[in-house]
Amino acid sequence: MKKSNLVLCVMSILLLVLSVPLHAEEIGRGVKVTYLGHAAFKLVSPNGVVIYLDPFLSGNPKTPPELKTVEKADLILVTHGHADHVGDTLAIAEKTNAKIVVIPELGRYLTRKGAKNVVGMNKGGTYTSHGMAITMVHALHSSSITEGDQVIYAGDPAGFVIRFENGFTVYHAGDTGLFGDMKLIGEIYKPDLSLLPIGSHFTMDPREATYAAKLLGSKYVIPMHYGTFPVLTGTAEEFVRLMTKEVPKTKVLVLKPGQMVQ
Ligand code: NI
Ligand code: MN
Repeated sequence: MKKSNLVLCVMSILLLVLSVPLHAEEIGRGVKVTYLGHAAFKLVSPNGVVIYLDPFLSGNPKTPPELKTVEKADLILVTHGHADHVGDTLAIAEKTNAKIVVIPELGRYLTRKGAKNVVGMNKGGTYTSHGMAITMVHALHSSSITEGDQVIYAGDPAGFVIRFENGFTVYHAGDTGLFGDMKLIGEIYKPDLSLLPIGSHFTMDPREATYAAKLLGSKYVIPMHYGTFPVLTGTAEEFVRLMTKEVPKTKVLVLKPGQMVQ
């Protein structure tokens, strides 16, 4: 083999190794999960249906610039009225015609602000769309919208369980403290993947999120709602440390904003 060929060969092997995704094992069985920073996620179903969860993008210091622009969205799920969760919901819905799935009180507010395609649902209910079952579940938090010095009621805060057409199930906890009924969410919906806040101050910290993971019993957990602002002090390192010790059967996937698993 000529020396230049050898160099080429080594380089292509190196490229191949580098291009293997961080988590080479199959996680989503065809469902793509992209972390957009804070509590924002993009989920793409095996059929190409695009879901945005809590799309706080343009004002999110952690969202990579190239992911702040949304070209396609079919569903936008918003857990509660706080600005770091409603985020760009109105602009994305306007641009893409996506349906906004929320609790009715927040839905009324968004409709008043011009949203045309709001699906108001409530906790315990399941909405079926594009072959997916979306269940709204409890979250232990508050919910409101601040406009100037006014605080507007936005209904209850919530979490979502999304069951894709292939059975793969994702639980997005929203902003929440630890609550015992996470055990029921684990037993009834059997999420494969749970997205749990760990930042503390407004939500669970790593210790409580570890307990939540124990109750949920999902195969994978992605930590969220940490590191965005200085007040969110919970770290992924601490979460991984506690999870390894206390819930070893659940694998923690620490995603950098912009990173995708599938
Ligand atoms: Ni909140
Ligand atoms: Mn929040």
